[in-house]
Amino acid sequence: MKQSEYLKILKLVRTSLEEYNNWGENEVYKASSVGISSESRKSNVLKKNIQKTFSTNFTKYSTSSKEELDNLREKVNSCKKCPLGKSRLNVVFGIGSPNASLVFVGEGPGYDEDHKGEPFVGRAGQLLTKIIEAMDQTRETVYIANIVKCHPMIDPSNPEKRTNDRPPTPNEVEICKNYLDRQLEIIKPKIIVTLGTSSTKGLLNNEEPISKIRGIVKEYKTINLVPTYHPAALLRNPSLKKFVWEDMKKVMHFLNTGKI
Ligand code: SF4
Ligand code: URA
Repeated sequence: MKQSEYLKILKLVRTSLEEYNNWGENEVYKASSVGISSESRKSNVLKKNIQKTFSTNFTKYSTSSKEELDNLREKVNSCKKCPLGKSRLNVVFGIGSPNASLVFVGEGPGYDEDHKGEPFVGRAGQLLTKIIEAMDQTRETVYIANIVKCHPMIDPSNPEKRTNDRPPTPNEVEICKNYLDRQLEIIKPKIIVTLGTSSTKGLLNNEEPISKIRGIVKEYKTINLVPTYHPAALLRNPSLKKFVWEDMKKVMHFLNTGKI
């Protein structure tokens, strides 16, 4: 915290104490008679004033994570560090709240995402949006990103072809992952949900299949991480939906109670 912010808080403490003195005996007496001790009146005024200062500062900090994400987005928009940079139509950086508690990480943009420059907007994306809404969240309150930011194509010479999607290679993940790391450093979520094998393997370096590891709470750089099935897998096999819902209930419980 800056010196000027300390001084501001000190000034507020002084004003609050003066305010308390100005209430006079009568006010303090009345407060006590309705069951509020003079001490707690005093601390309530203090608390309110300090909260005011902190909420002003908090808005300042949240603006700055938005700015930091915007700066990073600008840098990534011109990235050509891996071969995917040659064939992509648009970089798909990520979308949602710069202060999200919950971050979803997918595999990589597909045809629809490459055309729109936004993650999870195709059929699998629409299902993810429904899952997010069933969790009492929206695409605006969470953050959605991918482990690679450009569209991995089977035939890179043909971005206009549908059914041209493939998972990213370990090399592509290794190179691009730094950007996701930076996004996570800025957003500081409480929990990450990895969707499918690519992002789970990319972050955890695990060898277990997603069917074995899903729903198990892991950690990535001290952030809780819960792997689950990719929504595209649910489109192919709807009987997997109940497992994803089980996993998301665990995530919601953690977000509501702080307990995992
Ligand atoms: Fe750069 Fe990532 Fe795109 Fe590769 S996938 S070009 S590393 S932004
Ligand atoms: N699948 C993904 O993994 N990410 C997207 O953005 C879209 C589909």
